[in-house]
Amino acid sequence: MNLNNVEYLCSATSPSDYPRHSLPEIALAGRSNVGKSSLINQLVNRNKFAHISSKPGKTQTLNFYNIDDVFSFVDLPGYGFARVPDEVKDNWAAMIEEYLFHRSNLAGVILIVDSRHKPTDDDLMMYEWLLEMQLSHLVVGTKVDKLSNSQLKPNREQIFNKLRIESQTPFTYFSAKKGTGKNEVWNFIKEITS
Ligand code: GTP
Ligand code: MG
Repeated sequence: MNLNNVEYLCSATSPSDYPRHSLPEIALAGRSNVGKSSLINQLVNRNKFAHISSKPGKTQTLNFYNIDDVFSFVDLPGYGFARVPDEVKDNWAAMIEEYLFHRSNLAGVILIVDSRHKPTDDDLMMYEWLLEMQLSHLVVGTKVDKLSNSQLKPNREQIFNKLRIESQTPFTYFSAKKGTGKNEVWNFIKEITS
């Protein structure tokens, strides 16, 4: 992968809009505004490839990207944003569920949590879905540039405790700002797409 050929494919709200390709897909899941789109941009070395929100809840569709014809990123709508009507929330959950439970291209999921805070009940539900479906996954604690060195160990423990993660589960801290953890995320992607 030389990342010379990265392109936006399409946005979808239902399976009939999903791209018809045979690429393995890596989905990015996480709360609204956690940094899903920023993680994609950092990985492909672009500033404005995946759309970054100024307001939480911006990504309300599944957005598909082709990465060098090797795999496809799927930026999922962020969950857990409080200031939207319940019917919109239900709609998001249904969209995410439909994709995760039925998409045969799905090869793995990167679950992104905010490293500064305790994961939410929504994060736990998402993590439990991944286990239930036995999907390959990587948990990423993002925005680590905002943590002091002394917070690294306790905050990691907070994430592991809330999600009830087994110690052998792959985890990495990440910063879309500084590029921390980029190699770890790429290693996970390469492992499941090769
Ligand atoms: P939705 O599409 O609304 O679900 O949001 P998202 O998860 O795609 O988040 P997005 O990438 O749009 O980032 C949200 C905000 O967090 C933006 O202001 C980013 O600049 C900021 N942000 C994302 N990642 C990092 C990071 O690693 N460090 C810092 N300091 N800020 C970050
Ligand atoms: Mg986004």
